[in-house]
Amino acid sequence: MSEGGPYVPTLQRIAHLSDVHILERRGANDGSYSFSTRMVSVHRRLDDNARALKMKAALESAKRARADHIVISGDLTELGTPKQFERFAEVLHDSNLDADCVTLVPGNHDAYDSSHGWKNAMAGPLRAYASCSATEPGRTIDRATFAILPVDASRHQSIARSGGELTESTAEALQRRIEDPALRAKATIVVVHHPPFGNDRNPWHFIDGLRGHDRLLTLLVKHPQLHVLHGHRHRIVDRIVGGGKNRVFGASATVDDAPSRPRVRLYEVRDGSLESIGLAA
Ligand SMILES: [Fe+2]
Repeated sequence: MSEGGPYVPTLQRIAHLSDVHILERRGANDGSYSFSTRMVSVHRRLDDNARALKMKAALESAKRARADHIVISGDLTELGTPKQFERFAEVLHDSNLDADCVTLVPGNHDAYDSSHGWKNAMAGPLRAYASCSATEPGRTIDRATFAILPVDASRHQSIARSGGELTESTAEALQRRIEDPALRAKATIVVVHHPPFGNDRNPWHFIDGLRGHDRLLTLLVKHPQLHVLHGHRHRIVDRIVGGGKNRVFGASATVDDAPSRPRVRLYEVRDGSLESIGLAA
């Protein structure tokens, strides 16, 4: 207790955006986009500058909200090409955010171009953000009142599929960290692109779902301090797991926003739990 009265800890604030789907910078003579780009972007306008502006506006919104940490939960790029990761890094660098306060995970779109695009981006244009992002199973960003566990559940696949996979080794590494007594009093936050729900017998889950989602769901049921932040659905999701409070939060897609009205989710860490407090202004 301090001299001036009871000690009131400052609530830590986390901003969450997702599904930016950045395109590479285009010149006047670059011709039309590739077949793959047109296919995966079939309902979205192919305008590289507009997408970069949307991302810039979302990051500015998170900064104005005084977020202590910013999470971007996958589909950072449209196909995961080197040029698209370079453009994404360019916009992120220009935001002048502290790299230790930014967590990135890849989505299915980030692995369409190759199986090593994400790894190369983490070692290349996005290396400043690698220490707080999904580079290895069990990676933990340990802060005063919360811990973030970023997960790479992407896999290289045909553009006809949009699934993810929580591998056995990743699930085991997650479990070890979640059960670490040092994290027990903190809000523990798994960031993964796909939501941890689905039905293995549904053919659509085979195409679009998270293989191994049941491992994550089991951990959620067992550990009340555990939360999941995801993207992929391109819409706001609040789900209760294990009774009591919402603990699975999905963000809308930055690519679907107008640059003048970015939707960035905000959460506050309160008593070892994560509470949604709405959208940033
Ligand atoms: Fe997406």
